[in-house]
Amino acid sequence: MEIKKMRGVRGEITVPGDKSISHRAVMLGALADGVTHISGFLKGADCLSTIDCFRAMGIDIEVDGDNVTVHGKGLYGLEKPEKMLYTGNSGTTTRLLCGILAGQPFDTDITGDASICKRPMGRVTKPLALMGAEIENEYCPLHIHGKKLHGMEYNMTVASAQVKTALILAGLYAEGDTIIHEIEKSRDHTELMLSAMGADLTVDGLTIKVCKTEKLTPQDVLVPGDISSAAFFLVLGAIMPDSEILIKNVGVNPTRTGIIDVLNDMGADMELINERTAAGEPVADIIIRSSKLHGTEIGGAIIPRLIDELPVIATAAVFAEGTTVIRDAQELKVKETNRIRAVVDEFTKCGIDIEETDDGMIIHGGKPIHGADFVTYGDHRMAMSLAILAQLAEGASTLNDSKCVEVSYPTFFDDFYGLENN
Ligand code: S3P
Repeated sequence: MEIKKMRGVRGEITVPGDKSISHRAVMLGALADGVTHISGFLKGADCLSTIDCFRAMGIDIEVDGDNVTVHGKGLYGLEKPEKMLYTGNSGTTTRLLCGILAGQPFDTDITGDASICKRPMGRVTKPLALMGAEIENEYCPLHIHGKKLHGMEYNMTVASAQVKTALILAGLYAEGDTIIHEIEKSRDHTELMLSAMGADLTVDGLTIKVCKTEKLTPQDVLVPGDISSAAFFLVLGAIMPDSEILIKNVGVNPTRTGIIDVLNDMGADMELINERTAAGEPVADIIIRSSKLHGTEIGGAIIPRLIDELPVIATAAVFAEGTTVIRDAQELKVKETNRIRAVVDEFTKCGIDIEETDDGMIIHGGKPIHGADFVTYGDHRMAMSLAILAQLAEGASTLNDSKCVEVSYPTFFDDFYGLENN
C-alpha cells in the first residue's frame, strides 16, 4: 500500500476503545455472576479473540457494534472447551487466560498465531507454578492442567501488567493470600475493575494483595478511547505543520499517560480539557497542535506507562531537534515483534540517524528524511507509526501490510486520511 501524504491535519477524532480495558471487561464479565454491559468495546482482532475463547467455554456474549453484553456464569461457571483455545495475535488474551485457567477443574490447551508462538509465556507459567499451577511448555501451544492453587508472595522480575494480571486472576481461585510486588507500576485496569466488582483486593504502592473470592458482582463498563491509539494522532498533530487535532474521550489513567509526559517534555503544544471520570477510569479530551519538538531522555519508571507508544514516540523524536535516548525498554524485544530492531531497521531505510542499544535506541533528530518501502513485521503499532513517519519524508513510501492494524485499530487509515484539510 502506498502511504498517501497529507499536508496539515485538522479536525476532531474519536479513537476506538481501550484494548486492555476491553479484554478485561469480557474476561471479568464472564467470571461475574450475571450480566455485564460493555459500551465503547474495541472490536479489534485481539479483543475478538478474547470473546471467541470465552464463548468456547460456554459464555454467551452478544456483540452489537461497540456494545457487548456478557452473560457471566460466576468464577466457577466456565466449561471445558471442546477444542484448543486460539488467541490469535493477542498476548493479553494468552497470558491472562493462563491465570484464569490454572485454577479451573479442567484442562485446557491454548495456542495463537506465529507471533504468539514466539512470545515468552514462562514469565506467567513460572510464577503460576509457585501457586501450584501445572502448565506445560514456555511457548504456545500451552497445556494447562487445572489444579487447586494456593497463595504466594512474589517479587515480579519484569514490569508487566499481563504477568501481574495473570497472577491476580489466579489469586481469585487460590487458598490464602496472593501478594505481588511490582518492580514499577504498570497499568492497573484489572485492580480497578476487580475492586469495583467486589473482589477482595488491596493495592498499596507497588504491592497488590488478593484473596480467594467467591463472587464478582457485574458492573457496567464504559470503555474510554485507547490512549495507545490516540498516541498516533498526538504525534501526527505535533510533527505536522499547520495542524490541530481534538482527540475526544481518551482514557488518561495515570498508569498509561507516559506519552503525555514525554510529549510535554519535548515541547508539544498540547492541552487536556474536559477531564472527568467514566466508570472508574479517568478520561479527557486532548488538543494537539503543530509543535517545535526537542529531544529528550526516556527511561526508568515511565517505561511501563508508555511501553506500547515507544515506536510512535521514536517517530516524534525523528522530527525533534537534538538527540532522544530511550533506555530501560528491553521489554520492546518481546512484543508483537522485536520493536527495537524493527524501528531501527525501518527508520534506517529513510536515512534517519538511529542507533540500536541493548535496552532501547538513540535517535539524532531534526534532519531531513526520505521515503522508503517499509516492512511492518505484521505488527499493528509498527504499521501505524510508519504511516506517521512517512508523512514528513521526502518522496513516496509504501507499507507491505496495512491489514495488521486490525489488531488494535481496524479503522485507523479511514480516521487518519479523514483528518486532511478538514
Ligand atoms: C497489556 C500490557 C502490556 C502491553 C499490552 C497490553 C495489558 O504488555 O504491551 O499491549 O493489557 O495488560 P506487558 O504486560 O507484557 O508489558
